[in-house]
Amino acid sequence: MYETTDAAALTGAPPRHVRADADTHDDFRRDLLAGLSKSPRSIAPKYFYDAQGSALFDRICDLPEYYPTRTERRILELHGREMAEVVGPQADLVEFGAGSLEKIRILLRSFDARALPRRYFPIDISASHLEEASRRLHAECPWLQVRPIAADYMNEAQLSGLDASTGRRVGFFPGSTIGNFDRDEAMAFLRLAARLLEGGGLLVGVDLVKDPQTLHRAYNDAQGVTAAFNLNLLRRANAELSADFDVRQFAHYAFYDPRRCRIEMHLLSRCAQTVHVAGRDFSFAQGESLHTENSHKFTIEGFRKLAASAGFRPGPVWTDEASLFSVHWLESPAGGAGAS
Ligand code: AVI
Repeated sequence: MYETTDAAALTGAPPRHVRADADTHDDFRRDLLAGLSKSPRSIAPKYFYDAQGSALFDRICDLPEYYPTRTERRILELHGREMAEVVGPQADLVEFGAGSLEKIRILLRSFDARALPRRYFPIDISASHLEEASRRLHAECPWLQVRPIAADYMNEAQLSGLDASTGRRVGFFPGSTIGNFDRDEAMAFLRLAARLLEGGGLLVGVDLVKDPQTLHRAYNDAQGVTAAFNLNLLRRANAELSADFDVRQFAHYAFYDPRRCRIEMHLLSRCAQTVHVAGRDFSFAQGESLHTENSHKFTIEGFRKLAASAGFRPGPVWTDEASLFSVHWLESPAGGAGAS
């Protein structure tokens, strides 16, 4: 059955756990003002994903240069059966940052009819997108209880919708979104996930260290879609925060730093200029940067160590023939990290 986590949703009032879009708007305003006030300037990549940013990201996923999405999809298709084995029968699946619920469909197809997951809790910040995507998934898989949670999955206080999960919990975190966190955030996420999924585990997609040219091309595509995705952040600020960024006066800049094993994305000011955001002035020198994203790449061993230090017991890892991308099974032992 398709279920919301609060009966109020059926009467039109927002369910208690659902974040209104206005909350996201306030967070964006607060974080952009703070990010523009410090040196060097930066803003969290989660703000890329308004409706237009999400549509641009979907286009990135189909670009010939952007290998992660299709490679992970292939890994899920090839090894889904083994993944279904480690997930186990009648599980409660929890997807962190679920988006359009594309990849879960691949995983769901891999289960034996007698071992199908029982419930699915897609968590995503975008309430309207999530409701619609959840309805569509339930129409395709009527046997699955779909219980969307509109929330920031890093904020445990917003995850009370998970109280309805009473079975073995298994997390799903595809796409190497974990690479967009810094080390402390990655640890915080993994620790939170280990706690939420105790007695179950986590399937997580992780992009791998590789030759810098392949990485550079993936974030500097020939059609300029990644540039448009990066610059869309400024359009969003103009639309939502009464800012007046002249988008033509900023340039997309992405490069691979092999020392830190990460792609950095920036928006560089093409000239000296002053921008107004929510009633405040910010001066940019020519060439000055607003740092918009890091995308960390891992070695398999490096990621397993990180996961182990957060309380998981690393299990099987699946990868493609060219070792571009990996999917890890991380077990969260009942009783915590020290348990055997
Ligand atoms: C969502 N995330 C894993 C993407 C990445 O590759 O870091 C976001 C992205 N940024 C530019 N292209 C794609």
